[in-house]
Amino acid sequence: MVSVFFLLSLLLLLFSSSPPRLRLPGPAAAAPSLADDLRCGHGAPPCLAYLLVGARGDGARLLRLLLAVYHPRNRYVLHLSADASDSERRDLAAWVAAATPAVGAFRNVAVVGAPTAGTPVGSSSLAGTLRAAAVLLRLHPDWDWFITLNAADYPVVTQDDLIYVLSNVSRQFNFVDHTSDIGQKESEKVQSMIVDAGIYLAGRTNFFRASEKRPTPDAFKFFTGISCCSPWVILNRQFIEYCILGWENLPRILLMYFNNIMLPQEGYFHSVICNSLEFRNFTVNNDLRYKAWDNPPQTEPVFLDMTHYDKMVDSGAPFARRFRENESLLDKIDGNVLGRWGHGPVPGAWCSGRKSWFSDPCSQWSDVNIVRPGPQGIKLRQYINRALEEGEFGSKSCRSKFISDSSMTLKAELRASSNRSL
Ligand SMILES: *[C@@H]1O[C@H](CO)[C@@H](O)[C@H](O)[C@H]1NC(C)=O
Ligand SMILES: *[C@@H]1O[C@H](CO)[C@@H](O)[C@H](O)[C@H]1NC(C)=O
Ligand SMILES: *[C@@H]1O[C@H](CO)[C@@H](O)[C@H](O)[C@H]1NC(C)=O
Repeated sequence: MVSVFFLLSLLLLLFSSSPPRLRLPGPAAAAPSLADDLRCGHGAPPCLAYLLVGARGDGARLLRLLLAVYHPRNRYVLHLSADASDSERRDLAAWVAAATPAVGAFRNVAVVGAPTAGTPVGSSSLAGTLRAAAVLLRLHPDWDWFITLNAADYPVVTQDDLIYVLSNVSRQFNFVDHTSDIGQKESEKVQSMIVDAGIYLAGRTNFFRASEKRPTPDAFKFFTGISCCSPWVILNRQFIEYCILGWENLPRILLMYFNNIMLPQEGYFHSVICNSLEFRNFTVNNDLRYKAWDNPPQTEPVFLDMTHYDKMVDSGAPFARRFRENESLLDKIDGNVLGRWGHGPVPGAWCSGRKSWFSDPCSQWSDVNIVRPGPQGIKLRQYINRALEEGEFGSKSCRSKFISDSSMTLKAELRASSNRSL
């Protein structure tokens, strides 16, 4: 047991509401006792796999975020980067185990015990995301979409709303904010090379910058998030398997290339998906998050506050970013949108306990395959339908980029051949 335990690099798994124990996440763990009641996959409503990431001091925010997006159908990996102490990680694991009995019963939350570096630039954070995706594939082979959230994110719909609306969306779609229009940032974003010291020096979080630059790639096209930064993605299981299992070389080659990019999280999945013939037709150019920008836009969206409430809720977007810790807008979302009043998870159709101010209605449950959307679910459906239509007909997706590019290539070839004939 010990050897596999180290093989999996100290994954802290939560199995009961007793103090968290380090347990072997073997195949037995992949078959929780309630698996018979839970239907994922074809013909069932979707099951979602969440990665929630934070840094030092983010434990309480990650717990709140987890409870805001918790549903027994879903799977969760929580990752506090290496700058957080082990005791913060242990506290988080203990809080999660004690937060609601469903976590112990459905065994669907894991806290990463041996984290990757919290380097703000460099490849460590991408390594952390890929690792979490691999853990989710290994522990739970049955989810439909992988959703990455940060401690500064928060949902604006219930999981009942989200699962209900996504059950009507083809599972071949991926949601990635992307563009190949890098503009003046090309030199900084694409050509400059760095080495992330967090990869090979224990306890280091800085990076080294090469004095030389490398040419913009022409073996593949470089894609990144629109309006600077979008490391946050919603990817289907098929695409995650394609990236993690690597039977084609494209994901691996791009990973080697992105290892020396400043902000690989903002371009890796975008570039793999848009360069892949198999996946680029099904890429929706929208990361399904509400953001507000300064004018002119800064590198990160503004912190949301009460003045953003109406626009944010009316947008129908399932998630929003960025929020400060303890922002009062979060309480308003909890109360008005999510119906979360106590310290437990957002109540859904699965919660069958008594509803009163002193008890958590989700401490008892019934059929977890039934979801009951609320009013925000209607806005969400409209929002996702709009995103899908733009994906279908718009000129903004990477697919159309390639279609127009191939006609450009053709023209260039014609020009070249006419030049030769001269
Ligand atoms: C599912 O999609 C169909 C066809 O687009 C539509 O008629 C129906 O209302 C949708 N249902 C939900 C729950 O979104
Ligand atoms: C993607 O779209 C292009 C252009 O419409 C089409 O030629 C190609 O067959 C499609 N690929 C897949 C995998 O559907
Ligand atoms: C947020 O609230 C918690 C609990 O009330 C408190 O411990 C924490 O310091 C607060 N954080 C900030 C940034 O105000």
